[in-house]
Amino acid sequence: MSKLGIAVVGGGTGFIGTHLCKALKSKGYSVTIISRMPGPQRMTWNELNDNGLPEGTTTVINLAGQNVLDMKQRWNAGFKQNVFNSRVNTTASLAKAITDSDHKPAVFLTISGVGIYKPDKVKIYDESCAGEEYDFLSSLCHKWEDAAKLPDSDTRQVTIRSGVVLGKNGGMIKQLYMPFFLGLGGPVMPGDQFLPWIHIDDIVGLMLFAIKNNKVDGTMNGVAPHSVTNKQFTDAFAKAMGRPALIPVPKMVLNVLLSQERANMLTQGQRVLPKKATNLGYQFKYPDIVSACHELVKKD
Ligand SMILES: NC(=O)c1ccc[n+]([C@@H]2O[C@H](COP(=O)([O-])OP(=O)(O)OC[C@H]3O[C@@H](n4cnc5c(N)ncnc54)[C@H](OP(=O)(O)O)[C@@H]3O)[C@@H](O)[C@H]2O)c1
Repeated sequence: MSKLGIAVVGGGTGFIGTHLCKALKSKGYSVTIISRMPGPQRMTWNELNDNGLPEGTTTVINLAGQNVLDMKQRWNAGFKQNVFNSRVNTTASLAKAITDSDHKPAVFLTISGVGIYKPDKVKIYDESCAGEEYDFLSSLCHKWEDAAKLPDSDTRQVTIRSGVVLGKNGGMIKQLYMPFFLGLGGPVMPGDQFLPWIHIDDIVGLMLFAIKNNKVDGTMNGVAPHSVTNKQFTDAFAKAMGRPALIPVPKMVLNVLLSQERANMLTQGQRVLPKKATNLGYQFKYPDIVSACHELVKKD
């Protein structure tokens, strides 16, 4: 085992998890992924529930979660239950494993969403603002964050409220790349709704910062410091690709395709600032959307 011990990463097979696990290994952690699928350097959620955390665990992270915007899945009660369980139950399992462990890990890091802040075109949210329960997804964020809380523990607990994560090979950019490449891109209407975002290198950077820095405690917003609207993002991405983006996506179409409750994630937005990260000295690699979009379209 390495000097830094074992980092246990729920959902480490996903888009953010893959990047984070690579970064953790390069820093010198041994990494064990918790996945629904068994495999080398992995454990399943049932194994976690039966056996607890591996000996030597210093860091516990949860990034598990059924993809909410999976277009193949209808937004019905069964799917919503999967969306809920895959976040809240997995987080609760890890919290219980920490509570039950004889040697407490130093850090428990979980993720949540900026959807905990009610969409607004004027308000500016930082970590001092209370989240509200105004729909299914905001209630989910509350339960997700509550599940991560550890009663009287020696383990430092951090929850990063992430904006949309922009990276070449996953998340929103993976879905947008082809339509934009074909010149079929455009803003999601009305276009002036905020789109809280963060580059994949920065969400991973913030997670490593939170793991290392004892001053990071409780909730921290995971968004870039320069807020943009959906239209400003669309323009920057299209310009970086050298393609037009003139075909707006009407709200009605998304409401029909995704159902309104889910479509609201795209047609509404909130302006969120990373006050805690900035105050604690985190340096963003991609603070503005133009530099982020240039990296996203750059050939490797
Ligand atoms: N990407 C973003 O823009 C963004 C923004 C804000 C918050 N988040 C949150 O950050 C987390 C990671 O995001 P991501 O983009 O990396 O997600 P992702 O690529 O969709 O992967 C997350 C992982 O969750 C596990 N998973 C999926 N469905 C599950 C289910 N029904 N039960 C248990 N585990 C399940 C999968 O691991 P196995 O198949 O190995 O089990 C998967 O690799 C998610 O909770 C997401 O809500 C993401």
